[in-house]
Amino acid sequence: MQSVPGELSARIESAAGIDPQLRPATKPQFGHYQTNVALRLAKSAGRPPRQVAEELLAKLDLDDLCEPPEIAGPGFINLRVRSRVLAAIATKLAHDPLAGLEPVAQPKTVVIDYSSPNVAKQMHVGHLRTTIIGDCFTRLLRALGERVIPQNHVGDWGRQFGMLIEQIADERLDLDSLDLAGAEELYLRANRHLDADADFADRARARVVALQAGDPPTIAVWQRLIAISKAGFNQTYARLGVLLTDDDIAGESSYNDMLEPICRDLEDRGIAVVDDGALIVRVDGFDAPVILRNSAGGYGYDVTDVAALKHRVDDLRADRLIYVTDARQHEHFLKLFAVCRLAGYLPEGVAAEHVGYGMVLGADQRPFKTREGTAAHLDDLLDEAEQNAAPAVALAAIKYADLSNQLQKDYVFDPVRMTQTTGDTGPYLQYAHARVAQVLKRAGQVATDVTRLEEPAEQTVALALSRFPDVVEQVAATLQPHRLCGYLYELASAFSVFYENCPVLSSEGATRESRLALCQAVGNVMAKGLNLLGIEAPDRM
Ligand code: ARG
Repeated sequence: MQSVPGELSARIESAAGIDPQLRPATKPQFGHYQTNVALRLAKSAGRPPRQVAEELLAKLDLDDLCEPPEIAGPGFINLRVRSRVLAAIATKLAHDPLAGLEPVAQPKTVVIDYSSPNVAKQMHVGHLRTTIIGDCFTRLLRALGERVIPQNHVGDWGRQFGMLIEQIADERLDLDSLDLAGAEELYLRANRHLDADADFADRARARVVALQAGDPPTIAVWQRLIAISKAGFNQTYARLGVLLTDDDIAGESSYNDMLEPICRDLEDRGIAVVDDGALIVRVDGFDAPVILRNSAGGYGYDVTDVAALKHRVDDLRADRLIYVTDARQHEHFLKLFAVCRLAGYLPEGVAAEHVGYGMVLGADQRPFKTREGTAAHLDDLLDEAEQNAAPAVALAAIKYADLSNQLQKDYVFDPVRMTQTTGDTGPYLQYAHARVAQVLKRAGQVATDVTRLEEPAEQTVALALSRFPDVVEQVAATLQPHRLCGYLYELASAFSVFYENCPVLSSEGATRESRLALCQAVGNVMAKGLNLLGIEAPDRM
């Protein structure tokens, strides 16, 4: 659906030659939208702005969309969208469960790297954020018709498997009885053992070599650890209601065969150099190099990401790469992108973005920790939120808290505040949606068309509704879900003012029908908007 502000911008731009930077009006008496385009044009031309505004308006035909535009103050142009235009849009939204979202003309392939927990460790609060944010991006981009390929870059390779497998052998541990929580305890025991016993440390090292050489019994235990971990991750994903499946798993180990050829390629072309026995790439502007192979001949996190990126470009045919991790990894990804551009693995036409998020803090404003001082488990957080609300509401609360601030910012996990049903919370939006659903149910008739928008409160709701497709598009382009949250909160607030001031069920005739249709449009947009955030929108609470 072509949005009204989008259409207005396009028309003004074609007449003015510059982007009008259309903004919602700051006060109702200024209409619905404002632009300072005439002021900017006048400045560069050295002419009186009001005159420039008049000339511009004379060239423009907005009559089908707007009331006659007004020139205000020094030369602002104020626009008021015609009621019948807003009514037509609201009517469309009332009839469209997709709430006016249309597929883009040329779909892109977008690969999103998110969640990416580590084998034999429970997901911690950091994984909560990447999982929720990545899921939201997936939903948003899919709603716009993009081809989204999620990639769960599970940490399933590395030196830790040496000690894990040796510890299992030492304890004669029955793997059938092990779950992910048990595997994590095993991890802690193995770690302590490693520190205390030099002989064990030697065996663990030898076991890493056996794993890398593909020794069958070693591989078998390693695979069991992966299976146990996957089952644990899947329980958490089910609990979170995210779209990730086993098909999206592309663990670090899946790139093992690519590592050696990549090193050779980069060394041959002089992009990588040997330094102190290690193979590295130096990147302008960064102190630490990208390490392709360490001095012991081992491959690690950096080179695995080079391989993963190459796979996503060459085999998955990505047009856009998105990585969602903790903000502290930002430098890692900037260097990764730089090396891959240099190597030609990341061609000009492919965009690469790292979306870093802030930390989840406890009430004491410090990173959320377990009693043992490690990052808190995701399941504990869910449990805590569920002490304050039913599971579906608790989940809405968590997801909304996670998405409604700028992602880069830290936020305080406050289960009492975020489960409240008033204020800027997920449950408040769920209630707003359920309230609409109940009104429609009690009406006992199917909503028809929005035909009248006489009351200011009706106008405000319709105007908010008309912005939805635009907001979604912007959020998908900028990857800033807090803007969608803010929009939905605004819509819910506008609806609430409307509902207090404009009787719906007790009104009659055409007014009743029109208001019911407006309610239906709000319901559709709220449901779709919440769905894009990964939040359920039940009809009753
Ligand atoms: N496994 C890592 C962690 O838990 C995150 C991996 C992120 N993705 C990537 N391609 N490096 O911190």
